[in-house]
Amino acid sequence: MAILIKNGTLITASETFEADILIEGEVISQIGKNLQHPSAEVVDARGKMILPGGVDPHVHLDLPMFETVSSDDHYTGHKAAAFGGTTTVMDFVPLDSPLLLGEGPGVRSGDFKYSVDLWLKKAEKAAIDYSFHMNLTQFNDHIARQIPSLREMGIQTLKVFTAYNGRLRLDDASIFKAMQIAKENGMLVMAHCENGDVIETLTQQALANGHTSPIWHAWTRPSWGAVDSVLRVAGLSAEADAPVYIVHMNAEGEVDMLKYARERGVKIMGETCPQYLFFTEDFLQREDGAKWICSPPIRKEPDIARLWQGLHDGALQTIGTDHCPFFFDGAKSILYEGQAVAIPGKELGQYNFTKIPNGLPGVQDRLPILWTYGVQSGQITPNQFVAYTATNPAKIFGLYPQKGALLPGADADLAIWNPETRFKYGVVHSHQRTDYNLYEGWEIAGYPEKVFLRGKLIVDGVEWRGQRGDGKFIKRKEGEIL
Ligand code: URP
Ligand code: ZN
Ligand code: ZN
Repeated sequence: MAILIKNGTLITASETFEADILIEGEVISQIGKNLQHPSAEVVDARGKMILPGGVDPHVHLDLPMFETVSSDDHYTGHKAAAFGGTTTVMDFVPLDSPLLLGEGPGVRSGDFKYSVDLWLKKAEKAAIDYSFHMNLTQFNDHIARQIPSLREMGIQTLKVFTAYNGRLRLDDASIFKAMQIAKENGMLVMAHCENGDVIETLTQQALANGHTSPIWHAWTRPSWGAVDSVLRVAGLSAEADAPVYIVHMNAEGEVDMLKYARERGVKIMGETCPQYLFFTEDFLQREDGAKWICSPPIRKEPDIARLWQGLHDGALQTIGTDHCPFFFDGAKSILYEGQAVAIPGKELGQYNFTKIPNGLPGVQDRLPILWTYGVQSGQITPNQFVAYTATNPAKIFGLYPQKGALLPGADADLAIWNPETRFKYGVVHSHQRTDYNLYEGWEIAGYPEKVFLRGKLIVDGVEWRGQRGDGKFIKRKEGEIL
């Protein structure tokens, strides 16, 4: 089966040009002018743009947190991603037993293979292609010995945390040793950077003083802690001569530290997320402020300006989502594919901000929101948009050029993007399985019209043509340092 997409404007990370694309089987077989094929189904893309399917390097699907679970699973989150033009996502595998609780007897904390197999089982319903990162939330000789085995499983990334004391955090020695092992094995450490000690202290003080509202989530997680943590992790990376990728960068000073370290040859890369580009902590003061609770928290105007500057001048490398949705009111059901669904969510913390599940929806919103409010507004170019949301994540995480590329031989993952589509966005357009949308009422200018996954049309306008099991686990190779 062949598909010939005619007359589209192709946008890659470095070029914009008009061409036809021939898809044969699951891959792009040709790109050029006036392509012909005797039996191909022809799709006219005149006036439309063709983008490589988005690659989201940071999502949390079906993730147990506090007394609940993130409300998109490996089907609903994938479907939502596809509607927003994303065709590959990378999810995090928990290693700790508390995060695996609920999986019944036989839980084996600290066993990589067991944890990965469990996550592969959850992902059997995948609707788009996917890959995993491993959360490295314990460190000892037994764990250290297992790290190289991840490569055989097609996973070459480990996430470490400098916050969440007593739960997810590793000390500096462990992070440093993990970086050394990662370097020896061509792997990459990803770091969640906040100051765990300061957070614990401020949180206890806030609660002791009766401060329980959502804004205290941000006020107990100051941006200086993120800044000092990025510098510390950059130092560890330099000392281990190992690459590091800072996830969900949110603060002005973090970008300065990233730049400082990169200018001195440290192999450090940075990701930000749309929530840090569009919202200030003022949103947490609203009555429904819990909707914006995520860690690290959303910050202030100067942080937003510096993050955009970092994207404009190339200090940052990627834009992921950190998609980790919860219901705002999980006591009330919504209809998802005709079924009533209610999953406990943000209401769990209505009397105490420390009990609000951390995380936001965004996997579907990322591309349309960034196109409208990043590209159309002139903050980044269309090519930077593709670089940050598809090509760079594919390169860094060892998927390029299979993913994130419009090239002969690449997987035929692409979005036909209509820059003329205009509408008021919101939860009614969302396939994210939650009861709210952060961008409710925002005007959208540019939206995917058709989305292909390895040559299969999975989104056709508002129609879902994909299905459970369409997605496959992609074993990754060693990534590039950008
Ligand atoms: O609030 C967030 N970001 N939840 C997901 C976990 C993480 O640290 O990325
Ligand atoms: Zn994190
Ligand atoms: Zn995350």
